[in-house]
Amino acid sequence: MNHVQIFVGSVVHSLSLQHLEIIDDALLIVRDGRIIALGQAASEQDILQSFGIVDYDVHQLPPGDFLMPGFVDTHNHAPQYAQRGLGQGMHILDWLDKITFPNEAKFEDSAHARRIYPGCVAGFLRQGITTASYYGSRHASATKILADECLRQGQRALVGNCNMNRNAPDFYRDESVEASVEETEDCIAHLKSIDPAGDLVRYVVTPRFAIICDNDLLARLGAIAKRDNLAIQTHFNEAEQEMEATRDLFPEFDCEADLYEHFQLLNNRSILAHCCFMSEYELDKLSVHDAGVAHCPIANMTVGGGFMTAPVRAFLRKGIKVGLGTDSGGGFSSSILDAMCQALIASNAREVATDGTDKGLSLEELFYMATLGGARVCNFDAKIGNFEVGKEFDALWISGNASGVMAPCEPEDSTRTIFNKFLMTGDDRNINKVYVRGRVVKQ
Ligand code: GUN
Ligand code: FE
Repeated sequence: MNHVQIFVGSVVHSLSLQHLEIIDDALLIVRDGRIIALGQAASEQDILQSFGIVDYDVHQLPPGDFLMPGFVDTHNHAPQYAQRGLGQGMHILDWLDKITFPNEAKFEDSAHARRIYPGCVAGFLRQGITTASYYGSRHASATKILADECLRQGQRALVGNCNMNRNAPDFYRDESVEASVEETEDCIAHLKSIDPAGDLVRYVVTPRFAIICDNDLLARLGAIAKRDNLAIQTHFNEAEQEMEATRDLFPEFDCEADLYEHFQLLNNRSILAHCCFMSEYELDKLSVHDAGVAHCPIANMTVGGGFMTAPVRAFLRKGIKVGLGTDSGGGFSSSILDAMCQALIASNAREVATDGTDKGLSLEELFYMATLGGARVCNFDAKIGNFEVGKEFDALWISGNASGVMAPCEPEDSTRTIFNKFLMTGDDRNINKVYVRGRVVKQ
């Protein structure tokens, strides 16, 4: 194909947790969806010549616009797309019983999945989420439709079918360990058939959380994840109510880290949602195993979290991987921009609560978690997360002057100022274009 796109303008991306790189007058060259050069625009002719490029499209970004890497949503329940905003303030197990299970049970009907999932994937892409780690419902038929939809619309995704064979109502529970494993294997095979190399869509083993799976099922899922070297996702120390129920059901384990470790579900491919209540012991376990945290600050404060958010500063201090999650139904917003703002607020509250020991998060750190940090949590960082040469071009074209409610750009504003305004006051109206592997997935 050899399709070359050249972008000329401002570029913002994270090189590390603290290092935000801003290049004004940048030249970014993408060939067949991959970044082949990032430099100063002055060198345009040299670069074109050195790559022997003669045929290309040039995109000139106007003042007030910039390119940034796409957002990574490390924790998202696709079937909850239609229930967002419901049950605010409820505790987790009540919210699951009253709101979530009746809603997710509808996905037994494939026609329902075909109605909801296209809008769900489009909705997240529209908000700049170029990569999502999705929990499906517990139905393989619907989860396969979700994976097909991600591939069709061009969203990079981890997709998992929820495993849940106990402590859930008859109308929404896997009948047996065997039935649950069968649906999982069906989805794994389907994903391999539609995207054999896992270029865009990959399976993620998804024991919903410990109390809804029995020991036998957890052991089988750990073995499958190991066999196929698959990503793993679950909910971890989300709320007191949930932790207490876990202790009652698994008295042989002192904590969830020990539990998941025992079942081979705690390793460097694990994505642990919430992690609100963490002892030093469990922090060390996550660190030793290089497991990642999906920090969901909105859901933590609105549904189920016991209304406490995660000790993000402690994760960062220990070098634990952290990304952001919308949690879809758990939170009221499916915007990573909102998750960043709420993470900032929550971290400032923690600074006060810890007498200044856990400093609030900076915009650099929040942006890192929303992009490169999330890519690390999903183990996609060799491919995406920033604009390093060789990576795939998953990007957002931000327009600071688009009509909307973002703080207006002033003529003297630097790119850094416009960037700050976008993070704190912008929304999807400022996300002009969205690219995944160089393909425009939202225009
Ligand atoms: N724990 C188990 N299932 C869920 C869910 O769907 N959302 C949240 N927030 N926590 C859970
Ligand atoms: Fe969740």
